[in-house]
Amino acid sequence: MKVSFPISREISTPAMMEELGKEIASWVGAGDVVVLSGPLGAGKTTLTRGIGLGLGVDGPVTSPTFVIAREHKGAPALIHVDAYRLGSALELDDLDLDLASAVTVVEWGSGLVEPLAPTRLEVSIDRGDDDLRQVSIVAVGGFSVKG
Ligand SMILES: Nc1ncnc2c1ncn2[C@@H]1O[C@H](COP(=O)(O)OP(=O)(O)OP(=O)(O)O)[C@@H](O)[C@H]1O
Ligand SMILES: [Mg+2]
Repeated sequence: MKVSFPISREISTPAMMEELGKEIASWVGAGDVVVLSGPLGAGKTTLTRGIGLGLGVDGPVTSPTFVIAREHKGAPALIHVDAYRLGSALELDDLDLDLASAVTVVEWGSGLVEPLAPTRLEVSIDRGDDDLRQVSIVAVGGFSVKG
């Protein structure tokens, strides 16, 4: 599939954010890491829900607020991490996530996940007025699109 980075998108509804997640799901496979950054309520979990729908994994993707990581079974599985309360890359490493066999999406992962995932997609969501979100996606460390 021909996809060239960086990608910049204007997203004006939660449904569009989910659609973008489905599109991202078509680019990734087991072992890939997607790092989401953006302020509270930016739409990181909404985007992750779309990735889960695109991958066809089990269970509703919801905010993992009271758990740091949740695995949704599938082929590949989706590991959804909320790193908001983690203080260091070491704590993230301590979770002993099986990154190789899943697609891993990390909310608030920027500044923590880099040593564990030298190859990754970085998605930044900026909030504009009301429901408007500006999303940019960059590929880091030789990430290659699957499919
Ligand atoms: N264009 C949009 N894209 C995504 N979400 C939107 C949009 N417009 C409004 N929303 C709303 O914003 C909220 C986004 O919540 P979501 O949990 O996805 O954000 P988050 O970035 O994961 O927040 P947190 O930082 O608390 O984890 C939802 O209530 C959603 O309906
Ligand atoms: Mg969230």
